[in-house]
Amino acid sequence: MQIRSMKIEDYDEIFAMWQITSKRALSSADSRESIERYLKRNPEMSQVALDGGKIVGTVLAGHDGRRGFIHHMAVLPEFRRKHIGNAIATEAVKKITADGIEKTHIFCYQDNFTGQNFWESLGFKKRGDLFVFSK
Ligand SMILES: CC(C)(COP(=O)(O)OP(=O)(O)OC[C@H]1O[C@@H](n2cnc3c(N)ncnc32)[C@H](O)[C@@H]1OP(=O)(O)O)[C@@H](O)C(=O)NCCC(=O)NCCS
Repeated sequence: MQIRSMKIEDYDEIFAMWQITSKRALSSADSRESIERYLKRNPEMSQVALDGGKIVGTVLAGHDGRRGFIHHMAVLPEFRRKHIGNAIATEAVKKITADGIEKTHIFCYQDNFTGQNFWESLGFKKRGDLFVFSK
């Protein structure tokens, strides 16, 4: 398994992967143009995991100058529980931290217990004191 930064040239493969792993979280923010803008704004932070050249894991990572945010943390079903997710999430957080950002947030659906277990295993604490407001 290899890890490297995500490139816009990966778009078709990662978008196809997200149809399997992350369908509910997809929006217009996942168009090629939007992902290209995101990767330019947050250079080298988003990661992919490869198995023999095939992308099997993704994480979008960036920050707003104050807090880090992670999106589309995903591993293809047949590659799960091999600590691939752990490896790319750890790398993503490392990149955010290296930019001087002390805290990173993740949005996780309330019924996604796998996601919650995963983030807790990485030391993230579930917040019970906040709602997310979106506009
Ligand atoms: C969440 C996800 C990315 C985890 O990827 P992964 O490569 O399988 O995770 P890892 O192997 O690195 O797991 C690390 C730890 O997370 C926890 N974990 C992961 N999957 C779990 C599961 N299905 N049930 C319970 N705990 C789990 C475990 O503590 C695990 O450590 P262990 O295997 O030594 O017990 C993957 O399940 C996935 O793509 N799910 C669909 C998309 C999604 O829900 N993403 C999260 C959005 S918030």
